[in-house]
Amino acid sequence: MAKVKTVFVCQSCGYQSPKWIGRCTSCGEWNTFTEEIQRSASVQLGTVLAPGQSARPVTLDEINLVEMPRILTGDTEFNRVLGGGMVPGGLILLGGEPGIGKSTLVLQIALQLKERKVLYISGEESLQQLRMRADRLGEKHGKCLFLCETRLEEVLAQTEREMPDLLILDSIQTISSESIESTAGSISQIRECTLALMKLAKSRGISMILIGHINKEGNLAGPKVLEHIVDTVLQFEGDRNHVYRIVRSVKNRFGSTDEMGIYEMNQSGLKEVTNPSGMLLSEHNEGLSGTATAATVEGMRPFLIEVQALVSSAAYGTPQRSATGFDIRRMNMLLAVLEKRAGFKLMVKDVFLNIAGGLRVDDPAMDLAVVSAILSSNFDLPIAKETAFAGEIGLSGEIRPVSRIEQRLAEAQKLGFREIYISKYTKGVDFKRFDIRIHQIERLDKLVRSLFGKG
Ligand code: TYD
Ligand code: MG
Repeated sequence: MAKVKTVFVCQSCGYQSPKWIGRCTSCGEWNTFTEEIQRSASVQLGTVLAPGQSARPVTLDEINLVEMPRILTGDTEFNRVLGGGMVPGGLILLGGEPGIGKSTLVLQIALQLKERKVLYISGEESLQQLRMRADRLGEKHGKCLFLCETRLEEVLAQTEREMPDLLILDSIQTISSESIESTAGSISQIRECTLALMKLAKSRGISMILIGHINKEGNLAGPKVLEHIVDTVLQFEGDRNHVYRIVRSVKNRFGSTDEMGIYEMNQSGLKEVTNPSGMLLSEHNEGLSGTATAATVEGMRPFLIEVQALVSSAAYGTPQRSATGFDIRRMNMLLAVLEKRAGFKLMVKDVFLNIAGGLRVDDPAMDLAVVSAILSSNFDLPIAKETAFAGEIGLSGEIRPVSRIEQRLAEAQKLGFREIYISKYTKGVDFKRFDIRIHQIERLDKLVRSLFGKG
């Protein structure tokens, strides 16, 4: 019997090495090498050419533009994230942690697409499980076709036979090709399967949604490679203990990546949250110290979100720092600025920060609310409930202007806020239009004086 040849493959970038090595020489990741059996036959996976297309270079004018209307799903949040619906032949990768609701979301989309032919292939759940889930969602069953399959060749054949408008595959990690001898979920399998699906999607104009698992570091499991191949990468995130879920676009060849969709998970599936602006404000923080409200913008939509902080004396030598929903490095930077520029001895304090609703917000305009919540807890002095904040803090303690300030002001005013703190350097805004008290401040010490009468 011929000796089986094996090779070690980096699960992060696909680099191959004949021996195991601890750190990938190609991408620099540690501990990513696993042994895989070398492929016996290489699959023919070349360029993505539509039928009849020549391999000769052409000018733009020579390309026939076939008008391909986007496929609008019944889910407005999903359409929004994609930049106005799915593109025929587009390959979407939907990543997310286990149990976050990926299968629920795609099943809902499949069932809502009544006018289109949808093929749902699951390698994770049985047909009975799918039926049970569909019943739970309360959607009409419609004509969506279901199949349980994990062999790539069969997936491709069935898809070519049925010629659906949309193929849903749950998940790419469970699919494997017979011509590759490594196990399902390994980088060679994932890459080759995705390439084969991509080729089919492009040549036949079939839109595809592939579900991808996320590894413990929070990246799409294994391959960055996968993100390069597909047209759109969506990230499904949220805290499993909270009801809110967010779909973000990380990469989109057909639209912007600014948009996000917000959902609420309840007993009968995911419900769209079309007006998120006030949902993340708690009703019962009257007179409590340590909370501040940020007027933030995610994608194109403004909303107000509550920031909670707790500052207490450190019990041990090294103070504890923890942030949920906010970048901890950013928080540490803000604490350093508070220490150096405003003289607060926070380095000997434990600081805990939490963003309401289990959401993660990256908007730099959160800084002002974060600092205000921390100071409020530190002094144990509450901030008036009708006060909002929108400003970025620079390393020298200056308050810097942020984008879309008019939208933030309008939203805060709409939700009944009476005062808002913004940067003094905000330009080109007609403040008279707003019926909300606008504090324009330039530095941290001014903020402290205005809010707490100190300094
Ligand atoms: P699921 O879609 O299976 O997650 P994933 O495919 O990302 O692993 O959803 C898992 C969770 O969603 C499950 O723990 C239960 C919850 N859920 C609801 O709360 N309501 C529902 O209607 C459904 C179908 C699921
Ligand atoms: Mg699932």
